[in-house]
Amino acid sequence: MGAVHLMLLLLILVLLSSSLAFLYKFWWGPRQFQRAMKLQGIRGPSYRLFHGTNKEAMEMKDQARKSTMDLSHDIFPKTLPHLHAWIQLYGSVFLNWFGTQPQIVVSDPDLIREILTNKDGAYPKTRTRYFLKKLLGDGLVVAEGDKWIRVRKLANHAFHGDCLKDMFTVMVASVESMLEKWQNRAAGEEIDVSGEFKSLTSEVISRTAFGSSYIEGRMIFDLLTKLGMIISRNTLTIRHFVKTKDEIEADRIKQLLHSAVMKIVEKRENEMKSGESTSFGSDFLGSLLKAHHDGDQSRSISAEDIVDECKTFYFTGQDTTSALLSWTTLLLAIDTNWQEKARQEVVGIFGRDKPTSDGVAKLKIVNMILYESLRLYGPVSSIQRRIERKVKLGKFEFPADMLINIPVQALHQNPDLWGKDAHLFRPERFTKGLAKATDGIPTAFLGFGFGPRMCVGMNFAINEAKIALSMILQRYKFTLSPNYVHAPDIVLTTQPSRGVQILLQTL
Ligand code: HEM
Repeated sequence: MGAVHLMLLLLILVLLSSSLAFLYKFWWGPRQFQRAMKLQGIRGPSYRLFHGTNKEAMEMKDQARKSTMDLSHDIFPKTLPHLHAWIQLYGSVFLNWFGTQPQIVVSDPDLIREILTNKDGAYPKTRTRYFLKKLLGDGLVVAEGDKWIRVRKLANHAFHGDCLKDMFTVMVASVESMLEKWQNRAAGEEIDVSGEFKSLTSEVISRTAFGSSYIEGRMIFDLLTKLGMIISRNTLTIRHFVKTKDEIEADRIKQLLHSAVMKIVEKRENEMKSGESTSFGSDFLGSLLKAHHDGDQSRSISAEDIVDECKTFYFTGQDTTSALLSWTTLLLAIDTNWQEKARQEVVGIFGRDKPTSDGVAKLKIVNMILYESLRLYGPVSSIQRRIERKVKLGKFEFPADMLINIPVQALHQNPDLWGKDAHLFRPERFTKGLAKATDGIPTAFLGFGFGPRMCVGMNFAINEAKIALSMILQRYKFTLSPNYVHAPDIVLTTQPSRGVQILLQTL
């Protein structure tokens, strides 16, 4: 055989083996996998070449976005129509496809408990995909192992106990300045509270965690908002070889975010170097800087880690809490009976005075309202995990490298867990506390997650929301504006995409 023939044969072999590998990855492998899952009784929507189920899901989402909705709280079919439809068809454990990657969607509370409380690393956080990585980096939300332990400790300290009490005055002052602006509006003028709450929660996290004003933080928030929009419209897209416009823009925003955060970090460092202050400060940024300069390698964190944590906390500290406040205001604007009950409680405890930390701890009715709001309109719509190694979960067996998706709304709106009135606003279900409301099934409520990765800012968020609501209720009665359009949508978190317009009546 001549050299030319040999080369040709080699080429044919290479082409054949890469075609086989291609065929296996994109067609045969997924089909085999589907069959193996079916043997365990796990079904799901059919895998489609390249896209998995992403294309179908995107089409269903687009359709739902275009359609209008009445003022019902049954929002799951609107926000995640594909998951809603597939749970009805395939049950509480089904197989879904993120491109060629198999994903198990779990809405069974017992299995969820097993996943979220697992302590031997079988279900770590998912590896952040391209876009989300620009936002969260390797920050606390996605960190694992030693790094997670180190930063979680710092965050636990910064957002609990006495530190939280120190933040109280800042929270009250920030709400006060928001309400001063409301005062200057003409009587009967409509107000979109969702915009107001975004500014408020931005200011609060800027000042409490980073000692910077809203103005200093504004550039960071604007960039985070832009990045958030890009991430939201790309949650189901699969990356190709050539960079898209969105990818180029996300790279640019990441650079800008980096320098905006570094400015705040350097300012604090310079204050220490110049002797203007004697420590890095007692807030979260101060703790991060202290850890960065710690000589002990086991406690130290890098400059890049600081940037990731700042981005993470600027984002998580603001987006979720503003959504909670917006949805709660909507619910109280519709249900003026509960609004009045909450007002009576607030006035009974504080009169017309500013809220106090002790008083806020006594707000039982407001607490029930907030939990019911989190149940119906939980800002975090799904919890994601990955399977690290072959596992046995309940009666099922799963191989390594599968994704897990826990759709929070599927649990929060499930009549089997919450009763026939699951879609109604009934804060009274929380009268005897969360444990009684969930009736021995703690994972029926996942507003702040569950297990060791539960929200580190929970008390911070609840305090901030209670202060804001108390101060609004002390001053105003409010009703829903006829211009309000009910359009819940997931833009990273569950948001009222067309705002929440209310009409205020001064008391
Ligand atoms: C109403 C407001 C909030 C809601 C509904 C909420 C919800 C959640 C949920 C469901 C998780 C668990 C995610 C998972 O298991 O994968 C979580 C984690 C987290 N939240 Fe929040 N959150 C809120 C406010 C905040 C605030 C104010 C901060 C910061 C000050 C914050 C920082 C974080 C962080 C850093 C994590 C990751 C914790 C870890 O993995 O150790 N959150 N949050």
